Amino acid sequence: MSAPEKYGAFRANSPKPLQRLTTCFTLKAARAPESTRALPGSMVRIPDIANKRPLSAIVALMQTIISVSELSKTYASGFQALKSVSLDIRRGEIFALLGPNGAGKTTLISIICGIVKASTGTVRVDGHDIVADYRAARARIGLVPQELTTDAFESVWATVSFSRGLFGKRANPDYIEQVLRDLSLWDKKDSKILTLSGGMKRRLLIAKALSHEPEILFLDEPTAGVDVNLRRDMWQLVRSLQATGVTIILTTHYIDEAEEMADRIGVISKGELILVDDKSELMRKLGKKQMTLQLQTALDHLPPALNAYQLDLSSDGSELTYTYEAQGERSGIIALLKDLSDAGIVFKDLHTTQSSLEEIFVSLVKDAT
Ligand SMILES: Nc1ncnc2c1ncn2[C@@H]1O[C@H](COP(=O)(O)OP(=O)(O)O)[C@@H](O)[C@H]1O
Ligand SMILES: [Mg+2]
Repeated sequence: MSAPEKYGAFRANSPKPLQRLTTCFTLKAARAPESTRALPGSMVRIPDIANKRPLSAIVALMQTIISVSELSKTYASGFQALKSVSLDIRRGEIFALLGPNGAGKTTLISIICGIVKASTGTVRVDGHDIVADYRAARARIGLVPQELTTDAFESVWATVSFSRGLFGKRANPDYIEQVLRDLSLWDKKDSKILTLSGGMKRRLLIAKALSHEPEILFLDEPTAGVDVNLRRDMWQLVRSLQATGVTIILTTHYIDEAEEMADRIGVISKGELILVDDKSELMRKLGKKQMTLQLQTALDHLPPALNAYQLDLSSDGSELTYTYEAQGERSGIIALLKDLSDAGIVFKDLHTTQSSLEEIFVSLVKDAT
């Protein structure tokens, strides 16, 4: 697909083909408007009130950038790490692949990035088959690997510049400088890697992954073992990158990370993708709320008039718990309170709780086993 076709949906009546969006990357969200101005043609920017996202970003989200089809992987050991995984990643989204250790997250990423060979199935990246058209597919991807592997004696500047060269990209010191500045590594540019702290090494891996201006960034467990501050920085960075148009796929076994960051979540368990959904949909469909009432006087049993509510009475009879859909249109609470009062049941206190993504996830993975 040519550039004008590909990005046509972004703008109104541009006479000239667009330069690749990625050539205008800057990492800080605050600079995004400047970078979009650099594009020929005017950007359509109609704010969407509900989502607080420009229409262009919403249109972009509807396009598939990575298409994974019936992907399976059996390692030489005979172990089947992936079982017929099919998945479409949308342009511009943050997709979190969530699953316990050993679920197959790194295997899936490694196949898409061309590091591990699939046993069966296909992957297309921006229309390019990862096997038949490897270079074109790989050029669009930046990978921040799970393991920290770097050449200890190289300088920060050299290693990032070298990574860019590996993709056959012409040197662009201004771009590399920008990446290093945005990752707070600029004053370390001449330092040898072995002198960097763990957090800096992680940021360096991101700089390397961004060195060739990829449209897609994979982050494999970006915050495993990092401290709280660096974790916050990482999340901020990921959001800034998304604001510049980069599609982000991150793997994590931290549920709160997926909950915080993702537009969509895929849950993988024992090599199977057991669920893919918008985060908010997932919360809406599976989230339950509970209301617990502390009763003035303990009950031996529930009056039959309340059967329809499927209430739980605690063993000592002092607490009633009502479970209902978190985002249901009719919670039934008002009717319940009236019926309780009609039945002469008085409560002295009440509280509500909502199931977190953590609870939802644990129950999903448990169901899949
Ligand atoms: N090179 C390999 N050879 C054999 N088994 C492997 C290899 N790499 C990974 N595995 C196994 O495949 C499964 C999935 O691993 P991985 O994709 O790394 O999971 P995750 O990233 O979700 O923790 C694990 O059981 C792991 O032991
Ligand atoms: Mg892994």
